[in-house]
Amino acid sequence: MTDSAILWYANRATGAICLVLFTIVVLLGIAVRLRARLPGLPRFGTVTLHRTLSLSALAFLALHITAAVVDSYVNITVVDVLVPFASAYEPLWLGLGTVALDLILAVLVTSLLRTRIGLRTWRAVHWLAYASWPVALIHGIGIGTDSGATWMLWLTISCVAAALTAFGIRVAHATRESRRTPAALLHTAEGRTAELRAAELRTRAGASS
Ligand code: HEM
Repeated sequence: MTDSAILWYANRATGAICLVLFTIVVLLGIAVRLRARLPGLPRFGTVTLHRTLSLSALAFLALHITAAVVDSYVNITVVDVLVPFASAYEPLWLGLGTVALDLILAVLVTSLLRTRIGLRTWRAVHWLAYASWPVALIHGIGIGTDSGATWMLWLTISCVAAALTAFGIRVAHATRESRRTPAALLHTAEGRTAELRAAELRTRAGASS
């Protein structure tokens, strides 16, 4: 097998892994927001799992991109990785991958600066994580060699079904919240603020140890 063929397989394999990992990251993000407790884990375990899997997804994304850039069979430059729709190769489908990457980088940078920029800004930017998922999904479907393969089709359908279900639960939760009385909302907001403060203190304690 040639080096180019190995890189091509690596790019396709890591693309599929990224799709699965980012889907799980979105599901866990929603679970964290809804303060859901996963079986066998304490409540903060969901937060830790969300964070750890986000970093794993980023590592696989770095491999996915590196394989695409290093593979000399296709002409994808470092600029094409960061600037959407600038590539000579599959500009639309590759451009969507780039948009997803840029959104994820914005989420990553603001997460690293979370204690400095404040929770409000951090949360506003964190919404981009939701947006990056369908953009990356369409990128994969549009550009992927394996998009038509039965296994990839089932993998994609499973990821979409899981994400739509979780998103539906999230929207239903937000709708229920908006119907609650001001007093009940204040009570929840106070509890939420206390929880976020505790989470921030844990993050700071972790950073200083
Ligand atoms: C969150 C971001 C991304 C995700 C989740 C993702 C995921 C995927 C998936 C699922 C595939 C389809 C694999 C297949 O069916 O063969 C794919 C293909 C591909 N991706 Fe990405 N991708 C992302 C970002 C990027 C970026 C930024 C680049 C830019 C270099 C890129 C380059 C490629 C290329 C060249 C292919 C085609 C592989 C082939 O020939 O089959 N991806 N990606």
